[in-house]
Amino acid sequence: MTESMSFLGDKPVHRIGFGAMQLAGPGVFGPPKDRDGALAVLRRAVELGVDHIDTAQFYGPDVVNELIREALHPYPGDLRLVTKVGAVRDSDGGWIRAAEPDELKHQVRENLKALDVDRIDLVNLRRFERSEPDAREPDLADQLGALAELREAGDIDLIGVSNVTAETVRKAIDTVGIGGVQNPFGILDRSDEPVLELCREHGVSYVPFFPLGSAFGGGGPKALAVDPHVSTVAAKHGVTPSQVALAWALAQYDGLLLIPGTSSVAHLEENMAVIDIELEAEDLETLDRVRSKPVEGH
Ligand SMILES: NC(=O)c1ccc[n+]([C@@H]2O[C@H](COP(=O)([O-])OP(=O)(O)OC[C@H]3O[C@@H](n4cnc5c(N)ncnc54)[C@H](OP(=O)(O)O)[C@@H]3O)[C@@H](O)[C@H]2O)c1
Repeated sequence: MTESMSFLGDKPVHRIGFGAMQLAGPGVFGPPKDRDGALAVLRRAVELGVDHIDTAQFYGPDVVNELIREALHPYPGDLRLVTKVGAVRDSDGGWIRAAEPDELKHQVRENLKALDVDRIDLVNLRRFERSEPDAREPDLADQLGALAELREAGDIDLIGVSNVTAETVRKAIDTVGIGGVQNPFGILDRSDEPVLELCREHGVSYVPFFPLGSAFGGGGPKALAVDPHVSTVAAKHGVTPSQVALAWALAQYDGLLLIPGTSSVAHLEENMAVIDIELEAEDLETLDRVRSKPVEGH
């Protein structure tokens, strides 16, 4: 049976959490089309046992953190809020890198204020090195040092790294110690396998983003629905292709935590039900044949 609990760093959490990025408007910009619907998704998530929500001040910007506060504050004692820093938005919704140490500290303070908490359970340093390998980025040690100062001051409990190479994960483990890695990974894009393996070796929590292949670039769930291997396994278990993709991810590592993103209560309920799907060895063999290619949009 798939264990329903694991750890985010040292914090026990349900293996299926919630990614809040889909709650902003189109392009993760502006307010949601259906504000009441977005609040209902958040409340239903917690009712269904979600105790790990992934967010960012730059979702909207400002929109998603405010929705979380409105829907859920005062927060349940066991709810782990995770955010990420390293970018801001321009007035057209463009993504701008903002990752100098002072900018990171400022963004953490903005998250604390918007979420109305004294401390954030985990803050991911969001780098660009996987999606834009030639981008000039601030010195990693300086960035991690800034977050370590906030951890020392009690603003952050755990530091994580996101969109990073194995080399960065190793450096972060050796210098500040990390509570998790958040990288793109799913059955449609398994290129992060080396980082996943590093997390297994070090017992570090691994939180894939785009576990369904992402809404950017045409929509991962559509690609899953037409994949013959995914469909075969879905039909055998009487579940949907998206559920198969999430169950496959859970089977990769017991320290892997899911944060599928959805703006729909029906999809949320399907995603939470994945914990009860038991894939067999022959299913995993079938799913090994799904073609892996880089997912767009990170
Ligand atoms: N660290 C980073 O740089 C980074 C980058 C991207 C994302 N993230 C985080 O990771 C989370 C997950 O990534 P994501 O939301 O982009 O991608 P995802 O979870 O791979 O896919 C989201 C897409 O799948 C659809 N969907 C969700 N559940 C479904 C279901 N059961 N059946 C059919 N379609 C379903 C959603 O549409 P509906 O709304 O219609 O359900 C949406 O189009 C985000 O929410 C965010 O918190 C982090």
